[in-house]
Amino acid sequence: MTTFPEYIAQNEERDGVRFSWNVWPSSRLEATRMVVPVAALFTPLKERTDLPPIQYEPVLCSRATCRAVLNPLCQVDYRAKLWACNFCYQRNQFPPSYAGISEVNQPAELLPLFSTIEYVVQRGPQMPLVFLYVVDTCMEDEDLQALKESLQMSLSLLPPTALVGLITFGRMVQVHELGCEGISKSYVFRGTKDLNAKQLQEMLGLTKPSAAQGRGPGIPHCEFSCRFLQPVQKIDMNLTDLLGELQRDPWPVTQGKRPLRSLGVAMSIAVGLLECTFPNTGARIMTFIGGPATQGPGMVVGDELKTPIRSWHDIEKDNTKFMKKATKHYESLANRASSNGHIIDIYACALDQTGLLEMKCCTNYTGGYMVMADSFNTSLFKQTFQRVFTKDVQGSFKMAFAATLEIKEIGTGGTCQWKVCGLDPSTTLALYFEVVNQHNAPIPQGGRGAIQFVTQYQHSSGQRRIRVTTTARNWADAQTQIQSIAASFDQEAAAILMARLAVYRAETEEGPDVLRWLDRQLIRLVGEHTCRVSATIDPNRKQLIPVFVFSVRSLVFNNSPDESSYYRHHFNRQDLTQALIMIQPVLYAYSFNGPPEPVLLDSSSILPDRILLMDTFFQILIYHGETVAQWRKAGYQDMPEYENFKHLLQAPVDDAQELLHTRFPMPRYIDTEHGGSQARFLLSKVNPSQTHNNMYTWGQESGAPILTDDVSLQVFMDHLKKLAVSSAA
Ligand SMILES: *[C@@H]1O[C@H](CO)[C@@H](O)[C@H](O)[C@H]1NC(C)=O
Ligand SMILES: *[C@@H]1O[C@H](CO)[C@@H](O)[C@H](O)[C@H]1NC(C)=O
Ligand SMILES: *[C@@H]1O[C@H](CO)[C@@H](O)[C@H](O)[C@H]1NC(C)=O
Ligand SMILES: [Zn+2]
Repeated sequence: MTTFPEYIAQNEERDGVRFSWNVWPSSRLEATRMVVPVAALFTPLKERTDLPPIQYEPVLCSRATCRAVLNPLCQVDYRAKLWACNFCYQRNQFPPSYAGISEVNQPAELLPLFSTIEYVVQRGPQMPLVFLYVVDTCMEDEDLQALKESLQMSLSLLPPTALVGLITFGRMVQVHELGCEGISKSYVFRGTKDLNAKQLQEMLGLTKPSAAQGRGPGIPHCEFSCRFLQPVQKIDMNLTDLLGELQRDPWPVTQGKRPLRSLGVAMSIAVGLLECTFPNTGARIMTFIGGPATQGPGMVVGDELKTPIRSWHDIEKDNTKFMKKATKHYESLANRASSNGHIIDIYACALDQTGLLEMKCCTNYTGGYMVMADSFNTSLFKQTFQRVFTKDVQGSFKMAFAATLEIKEIGTGGTCQWKVCGLDPSTTLALYFEVVNQHNAPIPQGGRGAIQFVTQYQHSSGQRRIRVTTTARNWADAQTQIQSIAASFDQEAAAILMARLAVYRAETEEGPDVLRWLDRQLIRLVGEHTCRVSATIDPNRKQLIPVFVFSVRSLVFNNSPDESSYYRHHFNRQDLTQALIMIQPVLYAYSFNGPPEPVLLDSSSILPDRILLMDTFFQILIYHGETVAQWRKAGYQDMPEYENFKHLLQAPVDDAQELLHTRFPMPRYIDTEHGGSQARFLLSKVNPSQTHNNMYTWGQESGAPILTDDVSLQVFMDHLKKLAVSSAA
């Protein structure tokens, strides 16, 4: 008999699924009584080394509105060679190739072991991969030099048949022709005027590929597009030279002005170029920006340096001149890219904001990467960018292209499908389900609900693949079986799912309303939590939910608009383990008193003779306590008789390296000590109960609440109690 935690872990391991509830309420009424909805975190491409793809195509249910895939939960009549669909109950004939099946000769997809299975689509051509670089040239020489080197390095990591293209921009936008003999030629566009696909097509002489044109793997579609998108193997030398020769934007920038940066038009041209030449083919637009767009469609700030880019304050006061228009521009680009299956990545490296808030839909709608750093000459950027090209043991990129996700559920009639475009093995989506059965016609006891996830994508080898995950849970009557429902609660999954809902609310309706909604949910949650679950949950973890939702408040409401967009982006994409670290940082203590141990994220954990290692996902921080810092300053680590001190200093550094080398994006690394200026990053995360109570200017009627990282959890809980009492009155 497995326990629920074991069951949850097995399911996550095998199928990449975590549900908030692992027993489902059997009617709509029951479901609405629960604060936490029935929902799932799903990692479509969860890495499975034991899952070699099978070389045939899935068998589908014949009912046109269903088309579910044959799976281990289907009932099979081996004699009659029939199978019953477990979603619509349709009885289906097996295809002729399955004539030999029997109880002892089952195809893989019927074995419970293969509740997750991956098929290789045999039809259709091999698809090329397309990488289009869109490069800002308005930046300091140091940044540009570092960026050029990273781009050149990336060429060597691309498969030889991949197609590459280059667009550069500053005041003008240049589309570089890569095929011309010996001369570097480019088409120059003004950065102030948007072009639609048709205009671009005419100006660049592009033609859509026609199906009639025969072509082999990796061979570009048409003669014209070749001029801008060429196979790496043919032009890597020339492109390396071209990148090496890139210069800072030559237009002079006068004192007190920002450079004119035509990012909006550059991205528009990139989207249009791929739309015209490679629709529905795996492609990445990789955008590298060193500052905000300052002219043309998509501009987020004017060129006068004395007028700063919008802040939360401006947004609240509706005092933003460019935000709405810019957001609309990028949204329309994101929609076009997404409908063609194309990915848009944004690498924004600058000290100030660059407009991630306005551009976030580009990465969100297309499954693109969003990376933010202070400069292109940082290991944060360089290592992170290199990690994009990580390969698996077969030598294929760990990135999937042009992906769609489809969900089949019992009784929904029809399915839901989404374009996700870009996926990697850790991309994790949140899905919220609705129980539609009426209370007077509940699902019969003992029944099981099933859900099938069908992920179709272009593998980086050029194959089309279909991954199918079929999973089921029991239905229960919440009145009579409250214990079994409560025991099935997955607190960690629930916390992340609720937090993602909060982020969603924050995205769609910024401001105090979201705070109030979040607080109401919290009160209900804490209530539900104590009534229903406390008897069955490990007491050490009982407080997880309130702490989580507290932390979510800071995730949702702190920082500059760009930083918020950045944190939310990663929170919405990363898997459960990483997301948990984001809202509940991990703190380890190293001392002479034994091996490293996890300690409470609390100021009481800071001791003079300890070294702390804190992981907040975005930062890895090492903090030396007062005594340790003094010893280090005195150089004890260099004296042979204090070798154990040397080892003590080294241990957290080694552990930090491990994290720095594996995480995407690479975290910021901070080495600090008692009294050091960077110690504030630690102090703002440990519960500052003694010091910062007064910073909590809660719910003042006069204006919007001001929230800081320094809010004490204790004060927060007190506030909640007050709210709970007043709303009950
Ligand atoms: C990048 O930074 C490193 C170390 O901070 C420095 O040595 C190097 O000169 C910088 N690169 C450029 C091109 O300035
Ligand atoms: C690459 O550059 C060389 C010399 O500049 C030129 O002869 C050659 O034709 C170029 N190749 C392509 C594919 O443009
Ligand atoms: C991304 O878009 C989806 C809807 O398409 C939305 O639910 C989600 O909140 C968005 N996330 C972010 C970080 O913008
Ligand atoms: Zn069916």
